[in-house]
Amino acid sequence: MPRAVRFDAYGDVDVLEVVEIERPSPGPAEALIRVKAAGINPGEASIRKGLMHERWPATFPSGEGSDLAGVVEEVGADVDSLSVGEEVIGWTDLRASHAELVVVPVEHLTRKPAGVPWEVAGALFIAGTTAYAAVRAVSLSAGDTVVVSGAAGGVGSLVVQLARLAGATAIGLAGESNHQWLLEHGAIPVAYGDGVADRIREVSDGHVDALIDTFGGGYVALAIEELGVASDRIDTIIDWAAAEQYGVKTEGTAAAASAGVLAELAALLDRGELEIPIARVYPLEDVRDAYRELERRHTRGKIVLVP
Ligand SMILES: NC(=O)c1ccc[n+]([C@@H]2O[C@H](COP(=O)([O-])OP(=O)(O)OC[C@H]3O[C@@H](n4cnc5c(N)ncnc54)[C@H](OP(=O)(O)O)[C@@H]3O)[C@@H](O)[C@H]2O)c1
Repeated sequence: MPRAVRFDAYGDVDVLEVVEIERPSPGPAEALIRVKAAGINPGEASIRKGLMHERWPATFPSGEGSDLAGVVEEVGADVDSLSVGEEVIGWTDLRASHAELVVVPVEHLTRKPAGVPWEVAGALFIAGTTAYAAVRAVSLSAGDTVVVSGAAGGVGSLVVQLARLAGATAIGLAGESNHQWLLEHGAIPVAYGDGVADRIREVSDGHVDALIDTFGGGYVALAIEELGVASDRIDTIIDWAAAEQYGVKTEGTAAAASAGVLAELAALLDRGELEIPIARVYPLEDVRDAYRELERRHTRGKIVLVP
């Protein structure tokens, strides 16, 4: 029987179990995917802890995971756009990808280019579509300067590269250990913490056009009140209170969740124009350790589970 991650109550990582489940079966317009790699994301930890109960309640037993890459194992009766054995990248909205087998709507899948490694493909959906949406939301173009908080994290590491591809200069806020990586990816690293506004002014000659906040904790206020960035050129993917207070944008995964966007990002990865740093790959049975590492909030790039 196939294995999958399950939890029966809200709580810490210890509620996560890897259990055997019934083999899922694809219905019309669906495919059964044998998962090769599946990324993990901070939002899943928040759901598991019950922090999103008002917005997105869990029903128990709950599975988890959106990101996935794998091989088509079986297709629904009416599906002719995909064949068994094809390699795909995609997502599920049913909290189910941290598993060996998952049923996915065919419209949530795109073909995996041969040159994109499994762990990179499996990490693409949430971080990739969110970064794509955020960069689009602040309308970056050649010559712009954009500040990115959490610049070396799962989303931020892609934001700084997509900003550069749009012709903008990215100032990446990150801890010292990530500064070299940011330099190598065309961003200007700046340490966060006391005095960050002064350090940003110094490297930007006092002019910042946009800010993408992937961390929260005051960066929206800093952009408006200290850096003079217009509210329609600020996107936060986490600070809902600041978004309400200052009227800034909150475009994230939902704004760019499509197979077309995944295909565009996969093509950039395949051509070597975009990189997803893989911090660590864990076997599915070590799912608790994987989230322990993620929840320290200092991951460079992505952590991935491999069934
Ligand atoms: N709205 C949406 O659609 C959406 C989608 C995806 C994610 N999210 C949310 O966005 C956030 C980021 O997700 P992620 O996957 O990128 O997380 P992540 O990979 O865990 O990123 C953590 C990053 O935060 C940085 N960081 C830690 N302390 C910081 C500080 N004081 N100031 C600035 N940066 C700091 C770390 O940098 P250093 O290691 O350099 O210290 C690390 O690179 C999460 O809260 C997640 O829930 C929202």
